[in-house]
Parts: sequence; C-alpha cells; structure tokens
Amino acid sequence: MKFHILPSLLAADFGDLANEIKRVEEAGAEALHLDIMDAHFVPNLSFGPDVVELARRVAPTLFRSVHLMLTRPDLYLERFMEAGADSVQIHVEADCDIWQALAAIRARGVRSGLVLRPQTEVSMIKPYLLLCDEVLFMTVNPGYGGQAFMAEVLPRIAELRAYIAGAEMQALDIMVDGGINYETAVDCAAHGANMFVAGSFMFKQNDMGAAVIKMRELCAAAERKLLKQSG
Ligand code: DX5
Ligand code: ZN
Repeated sequence: MKFHILPSLLAADFGDLANEIKRVEEAGAEALHLDIMDAHFVPNLSFGPDVVELARRVAPTLFRSVHLMLTRPDLYLERFMEAGADSVQIHVEADCDIWQALAAIRARGVRSGLVLRPQTEVSMIKPYLLLCDEVLFMTVNPGYGGQAFMAEVLPRIAELRAYIAGAEMQALDIMVDGGINYETAVDCAAHGANMFVAGSFMFKQNDMGAAVIKMRELCAAAERKLLKQSG
C-alpha cells in the first residue's frame, strides 16, 4: 500500500503562510491539507478559498487536499475547486445532498472524499462509497488542531478496510485526521489507514522532511507486521 503524509496548514505560522506552504512542498509531503471552518458546522473559523489559491501560486506542484467543515459544503464547492483544490472532503453529517455533492466534485476531475465525525457509524457512508476516492475518519472532534487522538475510532477504520476488501473497492483510500503523531499513525496504519493528516506534530518539527519520511516508514512497517500476522 502507498502511504501518504499530509501536513495540515492549520498549525502553520499564519504570519508567514507562503513560506510555511513552501516548507511542506520541500518536505516532500504528498499533499497540503487545508481545513475550512464556518463557525457553524464546527465552533471555529479558519480561512477561505484565497488561501487555497495562495498555495497554488507559491507551491504549484504541491497537491491540495481541502477539508470542508461547513454546514452547506455544496454552496462552496465550485469556489474551492476554482481556487485549486485537487481533492475535496465533505462531511457525511453536512446538510446537503451528499450524492450530488460528491458527483459535482468528481465531474470537475477532482478527487472526492467523505468525512466522518468520531461518533459517526461506518454504515452512514456505505451508500456513497462508489462516488468516493477517499474516506476520512476524524480522530478528534473537528474544529481545532492540537487535540488528543481518540482511539475509539480505530475499530471503525478496521471495519471499513475489511468492508472495502470484501467489496473489491481496494482503490479507495482511508485517511485519518486529528492528533496524528508517530505512535497514533502506526495505530491507524495497523487498522488499515493509508493517508495521514498531521498538523501540530509536523509543523513543530525542525526537519519536516525527515519526519515525513519517518512517519511513512513506520506506517509501512506496521502494515508489513499486519500482513505477516494475517498469514
Ligand atoms: C481539525 C482539522 C485537522 C487539524 C489537525 O478539525 O480537521 O486537520 O488541523 O490538527 P492536529 O494534527 O494538530 O490534531
Ligand atoms: Zn482536516
């Protein structure tokens, strides 16, 4: 399996955003994760499409993953895709037609993702999986960076990994977001995740490039161990 590391810009120094974005590009991360919050779906505000556009301008080759924590993501999809989103993740708990929103993302040639809050059951997303390129499990309550990882989500990750194997949907990526560091990334990889969003942990590193490589290697080792155990 290919493992992807996505530093989250929410933990960057907002006084130096352009250089912080370049730092992620130079670290060799697979993508930059951008968290969009509307102070309604989550109790916080972050930034809008201008920052997605800034990322495209200062680091054009860096893939942009845009996580919409909005009550009505459907009303803003076009603006974020126009600004340069390469993947868009919407919440299954959002107040819109999920089917239509995922189809609208894909129609633009953008990768589509569906996100679950930590309390949401996997059965909620099953009807939409054929329209998804990735599923994102929140491993904290969405809204803020720097929170503690919620281990109770791990069995849900394993449940989805087993389900997509049985349904011949192995191309679907499983992402995790919230409280990710080396230890929690390994736990998630051992339960079947292959894409890791990390905010505070990545941005506090002096050498982000080395941390990206190390996290990838630790996850690959966890997968090898898992495969060995399952024979
Ligand atoms: C939280 C966001 C996360 C956040 C993760 O609502 O979706 O992407 O930036 O931050 P850390 O890695 O610090 O938990
Ligand atoms: Zn996020």
